[in-house]
Amino acid sequence: MYGLLKGKKGIIFGALNDQSIAWKVAERCHEEGAEFILSNAPIAMRMGEINALAEKTGSEVIGADATSMEDLGNLFDAAIAKFGKIDFILHSIGMSVNVRKGKAYTDINYEWLEKGWDVSAVSFHKVMKTAWDKDCMNEWGSILGLTYIAAQRTFPDYNDMADNKSYLESIARTFGYYWGERKVRVNTISQTPTMTTAGSGVKGCGGFMGFAEDMSPLGNATALDCANYCVAMFSDLTRKVTMQNLFNDGGFSNTGVSQKVVDKYNGEE
Ligand SMILES: NC(=O)c1ccc[n+]([C@@H]2O[C@H](COP(=O)([O-])OP(=O)(O)OC[C@H]3O[C@@H](n4cnc5c(N)ncnc54)[C@H](O)[C@@H]3O)[C@@H](O)[C@H]2O)c1
Repeated sequence: MYGLLKGKKGIIFGALNDQSIAWKVAERCHEEGAEFILSNAPIAMRMGEINALAEKTGSEVIGADATSMEDLGNLFDAAIAKFGKIDFILHSIGMSVNVRKGKAYTDINYEWLEKGWDVSAVSFHKVMKTAWDKDCMNEWGSILGLTYIAAQRTFPDYNDMADNKSYLESIARTFGYYWGERKVRVNTISQTPTMTTAGSGVKGCGGFMGFAEDMSPLGNATALDCANYCVAMFSDLTRKVTMQNLFNDGGFSNTGVSQKVVDKYNGEE
């Protein structure tokens, strides 16, 4: 523990269960001295698992459907009432109805596509617009979204989530430009495939994680690795990093092929 977030306040979206990346981020932010509100879609909070995290981290839980401007307005009003201005926001939200229902990309259902796009991408804009309108970010604050390399390269089973992630990353760059006026940074972290509820919904994810592991010189990044990176990005050590898509993937994104994968094809493993 380094006390990197001592005195910082924030909102963390997307902790569903102890596998969730946002769950690990909340634990690490707490260990580093931050205070925050935990939020998730009301329907996702039915099981009540988030209450254990709230207790562990001394946090309040406030439900909000991240596609609803009304819900987000209420959430941010509560955060302002509790903390005054805040220093960080984590958007760790993703869902594709087409992925969930196994609908092929070539046969996509457009109503489902719009729903998934709103939840996975536009909600990032809605969160930032709410914070913007309420002018509730402190100077040198930090806003993060989580993404995946399917935004840049084709991973067929990722389906329309690939397009949603491209859109999400673009929102980070574009809104990040405007947030610069207020000395707030906006970035996305592009995370290795990770075994979570959302991650395991992607077809063939087990084999795919093994492939990513073999392709990455440092191996796959865990949810905890991702949480540590988020802490760094919320801390004062990264103040001038903005409008970036930052890979936390053990080197996967810059590897053409690895010896391990070549050996497998040569039947040497
Ligand atoms: N797991 C992976 O392999 C992986 C890899 C790269 C990026 N990511 C991204 O990390 C983020 C977190 O996913 P995760 O893997 O921790 O899975 P997760 O299923 O634990 O988290 C997804 C969260 O989104 C929330 N959510 C869904 N609809 C919502 C709505 N309308 N309003 C508010 N919240 C809503 C869910 O309740 C859940 O808490 C997502 O953006 C995901 O795309 C995951």
